[in-house]
Amino acid sequence: MAQLTPAGEAGAASQPIDAAALAKDFPLLSREIHGRPITFLDSAASSQRPTAVLDAMRNYDETTHANVHRGVYTIAEEATRRFEGARAAVGRFIGAPVPSREVVFTKNATEALNLVVHSWGRANLGPGDAVVLTEMEHHANIVPWQMLAAERGIELRWLDVDDEGQLVLDNLDQILDGAKALSVTCMSNVLGTLNPIPQLAEAAHAAGAILIADACQSVPHLPTDVTALGADFVAFSGHKMCGPTGIGVLWGRESLLETLPPFLGGGEMILDVRRDGFTPNDIPWRFEAGTPPITEAIGLGAAVTYLEGVGMEAIRAHDIALTRYALAAFAQRFGSALTVFGPSDPEARGGVLSFAFGDVHPHDISQILDEYGVCVRAGHHCAKPLMRRLGVPATARASFALYNDEDDVDTLVDALEAAGRFFA
Ligand code: ALA
Repeated sequence: MAQLTPAGEAGAASQPIDAAALAKDFPLLSREIHGRPITFLDSAASSQRPTAVLDAMRNYDETTHANVHRGVYTIAEEATRRFEGARAAVGRFIGAPVPSREVVFTKNATEALNLVVHSWGRANLGPGDAVVLTEMEHHANIVPWQMLAAERGIELRWLDVDDEGQLVLDNLDQILDGAKALSVTCMSNVLGTLNPIPQLAEAAHAAGAILIADACQSVPHLPTDVTALGADFVAFSGHKMCGPTGIGVLWGRESLLETLPPFLGGGEMILDVRRDGFTPNDIPWRFEAGTPPITEAIGLGAAVTYLEGVGMEAIRAHDIALTRYALAAFAQRFGSALTVFGPSDPEARGGVLSFAFGDVHPHDISQILDEYGVCVRAGHHCAKPLMRRLGVPATARASFALYNDEDDVDTLVDALEAAGRFFA
């Protein structure tokens, strides 16, 4: 069974989630679509936000907003305190040893990964160096490396995916031999596969490489401890974890971040600017050029506090139970007409179910489901190399969050049955 972190185990001791009660915290979930209650099953793309997050942002905007790290008047100092407080909350949530220096706010996870490529990559990689990626990466963890590879003559190596949706690790040491970095997703946004990050980090470090973890899908769903992961950099987005869009996070090991040059230049990231050059700021502000997403950081701080209140172990246990229920419901209702991609063991995956349904195109499935108020994503999920490996141009994907329950799965299955009849 794949395990992301020791802390990622199923959290048997925690209280079960009352998803229907939690759903009441999310105003959007009370709306109707085509006269039916919404069944939102696309949280892997972007999750909904609870009132606590919306209120925190509104309260900040209405009472405190001013630019941060600049003014010495009352609300400017309050804004700075609240912004840095959000950084501390995010650091606490992921077990960062030094939150005030290791948590970098970015626009999203894509920018966080680009920051690593442009800052660490440009400082450390040259012709002939190798970086290892996997066949299940999101484009955000492929394209920036391809851009740098083309510019610098870097070799990109790939870990394959097997028929169960797991990484093929038989030749890991050989692939890592001489590599400078392994950049890998913690949890596939298509397959749900949980990758064994501590094992991969250990192998990367033994080979003299660093490990970069794309934790976009895992941080919202599993307890995360960056020290237990063993990663050197961890990237994730606010909008998949009940926070707003426009804010992402790069966590980096303090000793490593300290050595890195800035990524973007401008205000905020400098200590001094002269005609002949500039002196960069200390970490983390060195990587936060310009006015940061202040309201969004406050919202993300509120989101992690909300998730902590529910309990990440309970959320993980809920995902496993709901995934188990959905896999059984699919098998019972559709048999071999419906194929779910990825691991068959619910404990080896997150609550992301990509599937093929007969020969019905995923976009057609999604359109019919919408008539029943069911929101699923259809497409390549920004993972085209993986689509090629699976031999499909696209999949339909249902993904769960803490506010989904078995009724949502039942509604999905009934709507899929209707789609099947429509296209029969
Ligand atoms: N990366 C997001 C997804 O998987 C947008 O849908």
